[in-house]
Amino acid sequence: MTIQHYDLLIRNATIINGTRTPRFQGDIGVRGDKIADIGDLRNAQADREIDATGHVAAPGFIDVHTHDDRMLFSDPAMTPKVSQGVTTVIAGNCGISLAHSPGPRAGVITPPLDLLDNDGGWFRFPSFGAYREALSATPAAINAACLVGHTTFRVAVMDKLERPATKAEIAKMQAMARESMASGAIGVSTGTAYPPAASAPTEEIIEVCRPLTEFGGLYVTHMRNEDDQVIESIEETCAIGRSLNVPVVISHHKTVGIRNHGRSAETLALIEQRMREQPVCLDCYPYIASSTVLRYDRLAQSSRVIITWSKPHPEFSGIDLDEVARRLNMSEAQAVEKIKPAGAIYFMLDEKDVQRILAFDETMIGSDGLPHDAKPHPRLWGTFPRVLGHYCRDLKLFSLETAVYKMTGLPAKKFGLSGRGVLQSGSYADITLFDAALVIDAADFKNSTTPAKGIDTVIVNGQPVWAQGKATGARPGRVLLNERRTAH
Ligand code: ZN
Ligand code: CU
Repeated sequence: MTIQHYDLLIRNATIINGTRTPRFQGDIGVRGDKIADIGDLRNAQADREIDATGHVAAPGFIDVHTHDDRMLFSDPAMTPKVSQGVTTVIAGNCGISLAHSPGPRAGVITPPLDLLDNDGGWFRFPSFGAYREALSATPAAINAACLVGHTTFRVAVMDKLERPATKAEIAKMQAMARESMASGAIGVSTGTAYPPAASAPTEEIIEVCRPLTEFGGLYVTHMRNEDDQVIESIEETCAIGRSLNVPVVISHHKTVGIRNHGRSAETLALIEQRMREQPVCLDCYPYIASSTVLRYDRLAQSSRVIITWSKPHPEFSGIDLDEVARRLNMSEAQAVEKIKPAGAIYFMLDEKDVQRILAFDETMIGSDGLPHDAKPHPRLWGTFPRVLGHYCRDLKLFSLETAVYKMTGLPAKKFGLSGRGVLQSGSYADITLFDAALVIDAADFKNSTTPAKGIDTVIVNGQPVWAQGKATGARPGRVLLNERRTAH
């Protein structure tokens, strides 16, 4: 009998393989960057062994909604993500990506582009190809698949943003989208909820996104409206998907403002209906507060607002807006004007909606974390352990197999990340070992950057990047490309 030999052998794990099938006991043998075998490997040997007794081995988590375009360079250890068990991020969401650079206008970064670059100089990639090459040359600890943003394109080509793009401008943006897709981007994102893209009519988006059809890309959107017109926005999103014949992703689905609390019953019913006719999927973060740039129009919809950063007044980071107004001796409206540009956390969602959306069968998990905020929303450090510990184990919203599926197999399928998201022989060795009894988020609205508990070991492309509560320093991350591009 020949004795199997592996580079890495994980012994005695409770394996939850990302397909939603029931857990089983077993060992995982890794050779190079791939899983060679899964099963009873007790007679095998390895250069390196990990005893996973009492721990779950799951596929590495896929954070489908991130703004990590720059963190992949500026903090390549990716600790906020790795410490949660995340092994792949989808960057370039909400219409904002670092490519294509606005060129000479890169110095004047309009919100919300400043969520990616609040200290200048990061909008320096003339094309998606250039961004991808730079990231491949200096890899991060984890994998990234990238969207390119329609808002970034608008800032790059239009002199005024408060109007629809002209035919010539649309042609330029479409060329940017085509270059990006040909260079391996996986789709285009929009953020028509934000002023720089709010004047873009549906037809502009369809034309800019036209190359998605030929390259098999995804249309991903922070919808035009998530409050009173949320239904109309879902219909617009689906219409764009139908006219391009591409899958759509509704980002961070929610129903905002007290008037709309409870309406997730209605929105999910509509999404379910559309799903029977066309590919639609959605993601969600596990919190009742949202976070983005500071905007006056959000105040009326929020029961509480916390400042996350302020360019002119960094001392107010982490302070409630009503307290800021008190200290400045002015109204909240005046305070907003005084401390802008700034970011904020808005308590504007209903817990029942959050739970209903999370529990919806097709909902994936996305953090929407903002890595460059001085006092970020805790979702940056807590999203995945919070779903596993709080919503799955403590509130029993769904089984652990389902929770893992929402973070692994489901997003890998929807985003076309082949060889990822499922533990099986032949797939990439992206593996997270965690303690199902202990796993929990530790970041909250006061201490928002505390690493989560219970995530023990994180392996990316066969190499441990997180062990014993610390980053290992390895940088095995890859840029995951739109694979259908090779058929072109
Ligand atoms: Zn967004
Ligand atoms: Cu976002």
